[in-house]
Amino acid sequence: MQALVVQSSGEVEVNEVPDPEPGPGQVLVETEVAGAGFVDVMLRRGQYAGSAAGMVPGVEVVGRVRAAGADVPADLVGQRVLAQPSLGGYAELVAVDAGRVLPLPEDTDAASAVALGVNALVAEVSLSRAGVRNGTRVLVRGASGGVGLLATQVAAARGAEVTAVTSSAERADRLRALGATTVVDRTTATVSGGPYDVVVDPVAGPDMPSFLELLDANGHYVACGAAAGTPPDAFFHALLAAFFRSPTLMAFSLSSVTQDELRASWREITTLWAKGALEPVVDERLPLAEAEKALVALEAGTPFGKVVLTCG
Ligand SMILES: NC(=O)c1ccc[n+]([C@@H]2O[C@H](COP(=O)([O-])OP(=O)(O)OC[C@H]3O[C@@H](n4cnc5c(N)ncnc54)[C@H](OP(=O)(O)O)[C@@H]3O)[C@@H](O)[C@H]2O)c1
Repeated sequence: MQALVVQSSGEVEVNEVPDPEPGPGQVLVETEVAGAGFVDVMLRRGQYAGSAAGMVPGVEVVGRVRAAGADVPADLVGQRVLAQPSLGGYAELVAVDAGRVLPLPEDTDAASAVALGVNALVAEVSLSRAGVRNGTRVLVRGASGGVGLLATQVAAARGAEVTAVTSSAERADRLRALGATTVVDRTTATVSGGPYDVVVDPVAGPDMPSFLELLDANGHYVACGAAAGTPPDAFFHALLAAFFRSPTLMAFSLSSVTQDELRASWREITTLWAKGALEPVVDERLPLAEAEKALVALEAGTPFGKVVLTCG
Protein backbone atom coordinates (compact mmCIF):
# COMPACT_ATOMS: atom_id res chain seq x y z
CA MET A 1 0.00 0.00 0.00
CA GLN A 2 0.96 3.67 -0.24
CA ALA A 3 1.75 5.54 2.98
CA LEU A 4 3.26 8.87 3.88
CA VAL A 5 6.54 8.05 5.62
CA VAL A 6 8.71 10.40 7.72
CA GLN A 7 12.26 10.12 6.36
CA SER A 8 15.42 10.39 8.51
CA SER A 9 15.84 13.95 7.15
CA GLY A 10 12.42 14.85 8.62
CA GLU A 11 10.95 15.20 5.11
CA VAL A 12 7.81 13.24 4.35
CA GLU A 13 7.20 11.28 1.16
CA VAL A 14 4.75 8.72 -0.15
CA ASN A 15 6.37 5.26 -0.14
CA GLU A 16 5.18 1.76 -1.02
CA VAL A 17 5.12 -0.20 2.28
CA PRO A 18 3.73 -3.61 3.33
CA ASP A 19 0.02 -3.73 4.15
CA PRO A 20 -0.58 -3.77 7.93
CA GLU A 21 -2.23 -6.84 9.46
CA PRO A 22 -4.93 -6.38 12.11
CA GLY A 23 -3.68 -7.93 15.37
CA PRO A 24 -5.93 -9.45 18.04
CA GLY A 25 -8.61 -6.92 19.02
CA GLN A 26 -7.90 -4.79 15.94
CA VAL A 27 -9.61 -3.98 12.67
CA LEU A 28 -8.06 -3.03 9.33
CA VAL A 29 -9.56 0.19 7.95
CA GLU A 30 -9.39 1.26 4.30
CA THR A 31 -8.82 5.02 4.44
CA GLU A 32 -11.01 7.49 2.54
CA VAL A 33 -9.67 10.60 4.28
CA ALA A 34 -7.19 11.31 7.07
CA GLY A 35 -7.33 14.35 9.33
CA ALA A 36 -4.16 16.43 9.60
CA GLY A 37 -3.56 18.17 12.93
CA PHE A 38 -0.83 19.84 14.92
CA VAL A 39 -0.13 16.49 16.57
CA ASP A 40 1.32 15.35 13.22
CA VAL A 41 3.64 18.37 13.20
CA MET A 42 4.82 17.37 16.69
CA LEU A 43 5.23 13.75 15.58
CA ARG A 44 7.36 14.83 12.64
CA ARG A 45 9.46 17.09 14.90
CA GLY A 46 10.12 14.14 17.25
CA GLN A 47 8.14 15.76 20.08
CA TYR A 48 5.58 13.02 20.57
CA ALA A 49 5.46 9.41 21.76
CA GLY A 50 6.12 7.16 18.77
CA SER A 51 8.10 9.77 16.82
CA ALA A 52 10.82 8.10 14.74
CA ALA A 53 12.16 7.99 11.21
CA GLY A 54 10.13 5.51 9.17
CA MET A 55 6.96 6.37 11.09
CA VAL A 56 3.65 7.02 9.34
CA PRO A 57 1.84 9.95 11.06
CA GLY A 58 -1.95 10.31 11.32
CA VAL A 59 -4.22 9.71 14.32
CA GLU A 60 -7.67 9.89 12.70
CA VAL A 61 -9.21 8.53 9.53
CA VAL A 62 -12.62 7.97 8.03
CA GLY A 63 -12.94 4.77 6.06
CA ARG A 64 -14.40 1.29 5.85
CA VAL A 65 -13.48 -1.77 7.91
CA ARG A 66 -11.98 -4.27 5.50
CA ALA A 67 -10.92 -7.05 7.92
CA ALA A 68 -11.02 -7.94 11.60
CA GLY A 69 -8.40 -9.61 13.79
CA ALA A 70 -9.06 -12.23 16.46
CA ASP A 71 -11.58 -11.38 19.19
CA VAL A 72 -13.36 -8.72 17.11
CA PRO A 73 -17.07 -9.06 16.19
CA ALA A 74 -17.16 -10.07 12.51
CA ASP A 75 -20.11 -7.73 11.83
CA LEU A 76 -17.72 -4.76 12.08
CA VAL A 77 -16.34 -5.76 8.66
CA GLY A 78 -17.88 -3.58 5.96
CA GLN A 79 -18.89 -0.79 8.36
CA ARG A 80 -18.01 2.82 7.68
CA VAL A 81 -16.20 4.31 10.66
CA LEU A 82 -14.28 7.18 12.21
CA ALA A 83 -11.12 5.49 13.47
CA GLN A 84 -8.42 6.74 15.83
CA PRO A 85 -5.17 4.83 15.34
CA SER A 86 -2.32 5.72 17.67
CA LEU A 87 -0.24 6.30 14.49
CA GLY A 88 -0.30 5.31 10.81
CA GLY A 89 -3.40 7.15 9.54
CA TYR A 90 -1.63 8.76 6.55
CA ALA A 91 -1.94 5.55 4.60
CA GLU A 92 -4.31 3.59 2.38
CA LEU A 93 -4.77 0.98 5.13
CA VAL A 94 -4.43 1.26 8.89
CA ALA A 95 -4.75 -1.23 11.76
CA VAL A 96 -6.72 0.21 14.68
CA ASP A 97 -7.92 -1.13 18.04
CA ALA A 98 -11.59 -2.02 17.61
CA GLY A 99 -12.39 0.04 20.73
CA ARG A 100 -11.17 3.17 18.90
CA VAL A 101 -13.57 2.98 15.94
CA LEU A 102 -16.88 4.79 15.97
CA PRO A 103 -19.80 4.16 13.63
CA LEU A 104 -20.65 6.47 10.73
CA PRO A 105 -23.79 6.35 8.58
CA GLU A 106 -23.23 5.39 4.93
CA ASP A 107 -24.20 8.82 3.59
CA THR A 108 -21.89 10.85 5.87
CA ASP A 109 -19.48 13.16 4.08
CA ALA A 110 -16.03 11.82 4.98
CA ALA A 111 -14.26 15.21 5.13
CA SER A 112 -16.96 16.68 7.39
CA ALA A 113 -16.79 13.68 9.73
CA VAL A 114 -13.03 13.92 10.08
CA ALA A 115 -13.28 17.71 10.52
CA LEU A 116 -15.31 16.95 13.67
CA GLY A 117 -13.44 13.75 14.56
CA VAL A 118 -10.82 13.81 17.28
CA ASN A 119 -11.19 17.55 17.84
CA ALA A 120 -14.91 17.33 18.63
CA LEU A 121 -14.23 14.39 20.96
CA VAL A 122 -11.52 16.35 22.80
CA ALA A 123 -13.90 19.31 23.11
CA GLU A 124 -16.94 17.31 24.17
CA VAL A 125 -15.26 15.07 26.76
CA SER A 126 -13.06 17.77 28.31
CA LEU A 127 -15.87 20.36 28.52
CA SER A 128 -18.14 17.75 30.04
CA ARG A 129 -15.50 16.79 32.64
CA ALA A 130 -14.94 20.50 33.40
CA GLY A 131 -18.69 20.89 34.07
CA VAL A 132 -19.46 23.34 31.24
CA ARG A 133 -23.19 24.06 31.03
CA ASN A 134 -25.61 26.90 30.42
CA GLY A 135 -24.03 30.19 31.52
CA THR A 136 -20.51 28.83 32.20
CA ARG A 137 -17.88 31.42 31.26
CA VAL A 138 -15.39 29.66 28.97
CA LEU A 139 -12.22 31.05 27.39
CA VAL A 140 -10.79 29.15 24.39
CA ARG A 141 -7.21 29.69 23.16
CA GLY A 142 -6.21 28.80 19.58
CA ALA A 143 -9.88 29.16 18.68
CA SER A 144 -9.48 28.92 14.90
CA GLY A 145 -7.43 25.71 15.11
CA GLY A 146 -8.76 22.17 15.02
CA VAL A 147 -9.35 21.67 18.76
CA GLY A 148 -10.17 25.34 19.48
CA LEU A 149 -12.85 25.64 16.82
CA LEU A 150 -14.68 22.61 18.19
CA ALA A 151 -14.22 23.72 21.81
CA THR A 152 -15.80 27.06 20.83
CA GLN A 153 -18.74 25.36 19.10
CA VAL A 154 -19.36 22.63 21.68
CA ALA A 155 -19.20 25.14 24.56
CA ALA A 156 -21.64 27.44 22.72
CA ALA A 157 -23.96 24.48 22.08
CA ARG A 158 -23.95 23.83 25.86
CA GLY A 159 -25.12 27.42 26.42
CA ALA A 160 -21.76 28.70 27.67
CA GLU A 161 -20.58 32.30 27.23
CA VAL A 162 -17.54 31.74 25.02
CA THR A 163 -14.58 34.09 24.71
CA ALA A 164 -12.45 32.97 21.77
CA VAL A 165 -8.79 34.02 21.41
CA THR A 166 -7.57 34.18 17.82
CA SER A 167 -5.17 35.99 15.50
CA SER A 168 -7.06 38.21 13.01
CA ALA A 169 -10.20 40.27 12.57
CA GLU A 170 -11.38 37.97 9.77
CA ARG A 171 -11.02 34.91 12.03
CA ALA A 172 -12.86 36.81 14.76
CA ASP A 173 -15.86 37.36 12.46
CA ARG A 174 -15.95 33.67 11.52
CA LEU A 175 -15.73 32.63 15.20
CA ARG A 176 -18.64 34.91 16.15
CA ALA A 177 -20.69 33.27 13.38
CA LEU A 178 -19.83 29.86 14.90
CA GLY A 179 -21.06 30.80 18.40
CA ALA A 180 -18.35 32.81 20.19
CA THR A 181 -19.88 35.53 22.37
CA THR A 182 -16.69 37.60 22.53
CA VAL A 183 -13.52 37.37 20.48
CA VAL A 184 -10.06 38.73 21.29
CA ASP A 185 -7.55 39.24 18.48
CA ARG A 186 -4.29 38.35 20.25
CA THR A 187 -2.27 40.20 17.59
CA THR A 188 -3.79 43.58 18.49
CA ALA A 189 -5.01 43.19 22.09
CA THR A 190 -3.94 41.62 25.35
CA VAL A 191 -6.34 39.03 26.63
CA SER A 192 -7.78 40.38 29.87
CA GLY A 193 -11.22 40.43 31.45
CA GLY A 194 -12.91 37.41 32.83
CA PRO A 195 -12.80 35.87 35.28
CA TYR A 196 -13.58 32.58 33.55
CA ASP A 197 -14.90 29.34 34.99
CA VAL A 198 -13.04 27.26 32.40
CA VAL A 199 -10.01 27.94 30.19
CA VAL A 200 -9.53 25.50 27.29
CA ASP A 201 -5.88 25.61 26.22
CA PRO A 202 -4.58 23.64 23.22
CA VAL A 203 -1.75 26.22 22.83
CA ALA A 204 0.31 26.30 26.12
CA GLY A 205 3.70 28.02 25.46
CA PRO A 206 5.22 30.97 27.32
CA ASP A 207 1.91 32.87 27.78
CA MET A 208 0.23 30.07 29.75
CA PRO A 209 0.69 31.63 33.24
CA SER A 210 -1.13 34.81 32.15
CA PHE A 211 -4.19 32.73 31.17
CA LEU A 212 -4.21 31.01 34.55
CA GLU A 213 -4.58 34.50 36.08
CA LEU A 214 -7.94 34.85 34.29
CA LEU A 215 -9.46 31.81 36.02
CA ASP A 216 -12.11 32.44 38.70
CA ALA A 217 -12.12 30.69 42.10
CA ASN A 218 -12.80 26.95 41.73
CA GLY A 219 -12.21 27.17 37.98
CA HIS A 220 -10.86 24.47 35.65
CA TYR A 221 -7.82 24.96 33.41
CA VAL A 222 -7.99 22.37 30.62
CA ALA A 223 -4.47 21.81 29.28
CA CYS A 224 -5.05 19.76 26.15
CA GLY A 225 -2.26 20.68 23.74
CA ALA A 226 0.92 22.64 23.10
CA ALA A 227 0.76 24.33 19.68
CA ALA A 228 3.06 27.08 21.03
CA GLY A 229 5.36 24.71 22.88
CA THR A 230 5.63 23.43 26.42
CA PRO A 231 4.61 25.74 29.31
CA PRO A 232 7.33 27.53 31.27
CA ASP A 233 8.18 26.32 34.79
CA ALA A 234 6.53 29.56 35.96
CA PHE A 235 3.14 28.02 35.13
CA PHE A 236 3.42 25.48 37.93
CA HIS A 237 4.64 28.15 40.33
CA ALA A 238 1.65 30.33 39.38
CA LEU A 239 -0.71 27.37 39.86
CA LEU A 240 0.51 26.72 43.41
CA ALA A 241 0.70 30.45 44.22
CA ALA A 242 -3.01 30.68 43.29
CA PHE A 243 -3.96 27.90 45.76
CA PHE A 244 -6.37 30.23 47.62
CA ARG A 245 -8.54 30.24 44.47
CA SER A 246 -8.47 26.39 44.36
CA PRO A 247 -7.77 26.10 40.61
CA THR A 248 -8.09 22.65 39.07
CA LEU A 249 -5.47 21.87 36.42
CA MET A 250 -7.04 19.32 34.12
CA ALA A 251 -4.48 17.80 31.77
CA PHE A 252 -6.51 16.04 29.13
CA SER A 253 -5.72 13.47 26.46
CA LEU A 254 -8.25 11.55 24.45
CA SER A 255 -6.07 8.46 24.72
CA SER A 256 -7.15 8.11 28.38
CA VAL A 257 -10.88 8.08 27.57
CA THR A 258 -12.69 4.77 27.97
CA GLN A 259 -14.51 3.11 25.09
CA ASP A 260 -17.89 3.78 26.75
CA GLU A 261 -17.15 7.47 27.30
CA LEU A 262 -15.88 7.75 23.72
CA ARG A 263 -19.05 6.22 22.29
CA ALA A 264 -21.35 8.33 24.47
CA SER A 265 -19.43 11.44 23.48
CA TRP A 266 -19.62 10.58 19.76
CA ARG A 267 -23.40 10.08 20.07
CA GLU A 268 -23.66 13.55 21.62
CA ILE A 269 -21.52 15.07 18.84
CA THR A 270 -23.50 13.46 16.02
CA THR A 271 -26.77 14.55 17.67
CA LEU A 272 -25.53 18.16 17.87
CA TRP A 273 -24.34 17.91 14.25
CA ALA A 274 -27.71 16.59 13.07
CA LYS A 275 -29.45 19.49 14.87
CA GLY A 276 -27.16 22.01 13.14
CA ALA A 277 -25.51 23.00 16.43
CA LEU A 278 -22.07 21.95 15.17
CA GLU A 279 -20.58 22.88 11.81
CA PRO A 280 -17.60 20.90 10.49
CA VAL A 281 -15.13 23.41 9.05
CA VAL A 282 -12.78 22.09 6.37
CA ASP A 283 -9.97 24.53 5.60
CA GLU A 284 -8.50 22.58 2.69
CA ARG A 285 -8.58 19.14 1.04
CA LEU A 286 -5.28 17.84 -0.29
CA PRO A 287 -4.24 14.50 -1.76
CA LEU A 288 -2.07 12.38 0.56
CA ALA A 289 0.94 13.07 -1.68
CA GLU A 290 0.65 16.77 -0.74
CA ALA A 291 0.67 16.19 3.03
CA GLU A 292 3.86 18.25 3.30
CA LYS A 293 1.76 21.34 2.40
CA ALA A 294 -0.67 20.48 5.18
CA LEU A 295 2.11 20.09 7.76
CA VAL A 296 3.75 23.37 6.73
CA ALA A 297 0.41 25.21 6.97
CA LEU A 298 -0.32 23.72 10.41
CA GLU A 299 3.14 24.65 11.64
CA ALA A 300 2.53 28.25 10.50
CA GLY A 301 -0.91 28.30 12.18
CA THR A 302 -2.66 29.39 8.96
CA PRO A 303 -5.56 26.90 8.61
CA PHE A 304 -9.00 27.86 9.89
CA GLY A 305 -10.48 24.50 10.84
CA LYS A 306 -9.36 21.12 9.54
CA VAL A 307 -6.95 20.15 6.80
CA VAL A 308 -8.16 16.92 5.21
CA LEU A 309 -5.96 14.48 3.27
CA THR A 310 -7.70 12.36 0.67
CA CYS A 311 -6.58 8.78 0.00
CA GLY A 312 -7.03 6.62 -3.06
N1 LIG B 1 -5.72 16.29 24.18
C1 LIG B 1 -5.87 15.54 23.10
O1 LIG B 1 -6.32 14.39 23.14
C2 LIG B 1 -5.51 16.17 21.78
C3 LIG B 1 -6.12 15.76 20.59
C4 LIG B 1 -5.82 16.45 19.41
C5 LIG B 1 -4.87 17.48 19.43
N2 LIG B 1 -4.26 17.79 20.61
C6 LIG B 1 -3.24 18.85 20.70
O2 LIG B 1 -3.86 20.13 20.62
C7 LIG B 1 -2.91 21.05 20.10
C8 LIG B 1 -3.58 21.83 18.97
O3 LIG B 1 -3.85 20.94 17.89
P1 LIG B 1 -4.73 21.44 16.64
O4 LIG B 1 -4.72 20.33 15.67
O5 LIG B 1 -5.97 22.05 17.12
O6 LIG B 1 -3.74 22.59 16.10
P2 LIG B 1 -4.03 23.72 15.03
O7 LIG B 1 -5.18 23.36 14.17
O8 LIG B 1 -2.72 24.02 14.40
O9 LIG B 1 -4.49 24.95 15.94
C9 LIG B 1 -3.64 25.59 16.83
C10 LIG B 1 -4.09 27.05 16.93
O10 LIG B 1 -3.40 27.65 18.03
C11 LIG B 1 -3.16 29.02 17.75
N3 LIG B 1 -1.72 29.25 17.86
C12 LIG B 1 -0.74 28.68 17.16
N4 LIG B 1 0.46 29.13 17.55
C13 LIG B 1 0.23 29.99 18.55
C14 LIG B 1 1.07 30.80 19.37
N5 LIG B 1 2.41 30.81 19.23
N6 LIG B 1 0.49 31.57 20.31
C15 LIG B 1 -0.85 31.57 20.47
N7 LIG B 1 -1.70 30.83 19.71
C16 LIG B 1 -1.16 30.06 18.76
C17 LIG B 1 -3.69 29.30 16.34
O11 LIG B 1 -5.05 29.75 16.48
P3 LIG B 1 -5.48 31.31 16.35
O12 LIG B 1 -4.91 31.79 15.06
O13 LIG B 1 -6.97 31.26 16.39
O14 LIG B 1 -4.88 31.99 17.55
C18 LIG B 1 -3.73 27.90 15.72
O15 LIG B 1 -4.68 27.80 14.71
C19 LIG B 1 -1.69 20.24 19.63
O16 LIG B 1 -0.66 20.34 20.60
C20 LIG B 1 -2.21 18.82 19.57
O17 LIG B 1 -1.21 17.86 19.82
C21 LIG B 1 -4.57 17.17 21.78
